[in-house]
Amino acid sequence: MPNFRVLLSAEQIQTRIQELGAEIDGDNPAGGPVYLICILKGACFFLADLARAMKTPSRIEFIGISSYGKGKTTSGEVKLTKDLDVSIEGYDVVIVEDIVDSGVTLSYLIKVLTQRKPKTLRIATLLDKPERRMRPVDVQYVGFRIPDEFVVGYGLDYAEDYRNLKDVVILQD
Ligand code: PRP
Repeated sequence: MPNFRVLLSAEQIQTRIQELGAEIDGDNPAGGPVYLICILKGACFFLADLARAMKTPSRIEFIGISSYGKGKTTSGEVKLTKDLDVSIEGYDVVIVEDIVDSGVTLSYLIKVLTQRKPKTLRIATLLDKPERRMRPVDVQYVGFRIPDEFVVGYGLDYAEDYRNLKDVVILQD
């Protein structure tokens, strides 16, 4: 049985998401709709909770992009595994991510989505590991800055396991 240590409890996560939702609302006085683009798969729980924490009308979209394979560290390779179903041209867009680590995934995605001419393009991430950054990324909404520990739960996996844990936990060996 793996050894878990709770880093962020379900309650802490939910409280912070309410704050982030209010912050995004405050930045959208025009009243939306805002496209929330969920990066599969890790951000799915965050997307669901963030969308419901916002008062601004939103539309949800999914994009598949993968850089990790089954290991614990980035391969540096990024691939698009599922594209958006709609055009985002002229819309306010928030990319919803579970964690920014090296920044490889987001810097690639920002390049791809910018070419599609959204009105605005911002990023919301639940977790940020600034120590690990290899590519600079401008992230507007950060839930928690965390230390360089391997975390799973609340959408984050290790070899596809543990995504359904309610807390974010540190996986120790
Ligand atoms: C993870 C995570 C981010 C990305 C962050 O995705 O969900 O999308 O890595 O890492 P980076 O900043 O170093 O690029 P992963 O490829 O593991 O896919 P998953 O969300 O399906 O688990």
